[in-house]
Amino acid sequence: MPGAAGLLLPLLLLLPGLAALEPLSVGLAIGVASALTGYLSHPNFYCSYVECCPSAGHRINATALREQLDERLFGQHLAKEVVLRAVTGFSHNPSPKKPLTLSLHGWAGTGKNFLSQLLARHVHPAGLRSKFVHLFLATLHFPHPQQLQLYQEQLQSWIRGNVSACPYSVFIFDEMDKMHQGLIDAIKPFLDYYEQVDGVSYRKAIFIFLSNAGGDLINKAVLDFWTSGKDREEIQLKDLERVLSVGVFNNKNSGLWHSSLIDRNLIDYFVPFLPLEHKHVKMCVRAEMKARGHAVDEKVVEAVADEMTYFPKEEKLYSDKGCKTVQAKLDIHEDIAVKYTNAKD
Ligand SMILES: Nc1ncnc2c1ncn2[C@@H]1O[C@H](COP(=O)(O)OP(=O)(O)OP(=O)(O)O)[C@@H](O)[C@H]1O
Ligand SMILES: [Mg+2]
Repeated sequence: MPGAAGLLLPLLLLLPGLAALEPLSVGLAIGVASALTGYLSHPNFYCSYVECCPSAGHRINATALREQLDERLFGQHLAKEVVLRAVTGFSHNPSPKKPLTLSLHGWAGTGKNFLSQLLARHVHPAGLRSKFVHLFLATLHFPHPQQLQLYQEQLQSWIRGNVSACPYSVFIFDEMDKMHQGLIDAIKPFLDYYEQVDGVSYRKAIFIFLSNAGGDLINKAVLDFWTSGKDREEIQLKDLERVLSVGVFNNKNSGLWHSSLIDRNLIDYFVPFLPLEHKHVKMCVRAEMKARGHAVDEKVVEAVADEMTYFPKEEKLYSDKGCKTVQAKLDIHEDIAVKYTNAKD
């Protein structure tokens, strides 16, 4: 706020009759003006009206993030564990050697976007609405494969500009599996172990990649666990991490197919999302009802969860769309309930 002091003082001095005042009054006026200016330009005041980039040394509150994840993210013990570990380590490291890069994988509707948003909100409270959080959708922002070079240039300059403005920028790349192969390699220099690239340091930024690639491999591993009578919560990261990184690397439609990001170990963590069971879908329905300010009606919870389709065909264990269509299905139930009540009145 450099303008406030510059504006107020000349304005006071220009006021007609002010020159006629004794030195004491002029001194007082200047004192009040500078106090006001100091107050207005104080970061606390300024940043309560305009979103500010976190100051140097900013840390993510991992305890608060853990509480949120425990309370709101269902059935994803591995994703929770990995993300918390990643974030705590990164955020508490005063001089990370590279930006944090997470690659989230899993079946539809299992919570990849949901977790990314929760995480982004812990860095920038406005979440996806923050000017420091950037969401790229492959099909929306990079639809034409023949424009690859243009997209690469645009992406580089967008990231460079935004990290220059705020080192704690968060970039989320959704639909990685629909991203043109090679596009993501354009950001490789920013993710690497460089102190600076053209005078800009990317080491405080967070890059999150989301995709369904590897979802089938995860599902198979989870089903194998179930078949062998083991608990879902017994699945450990090491049971999936390798399957995933190799599977994604060799999957032509992963967006990371033979990508130098994997090749050069630039992805810090592969985060697996497990397929959601009937009981998790019910948890999603309850959470949605509460979020709408309604009392939880177990009959409706059961009905919505039963309407979802489940795989494999025989066992019907995992929801085809995770929790994705819960909101829409609940809308229909609530519509029916409203019509029923109106008809009775
Ligand atoms: N594990 C979960 N815990 C709690 N809510 C969930 C979970 N998974 C999904 N949801 C709910 O379902 C909605 C849709 O999930 P989300 O968009 O995160 O899925 P996704 O994994 O990104 O799926 P897709 O691969 O299809 O994009 C979320 O906004 C959230 O309300
Ligand atoms: Mg998604």
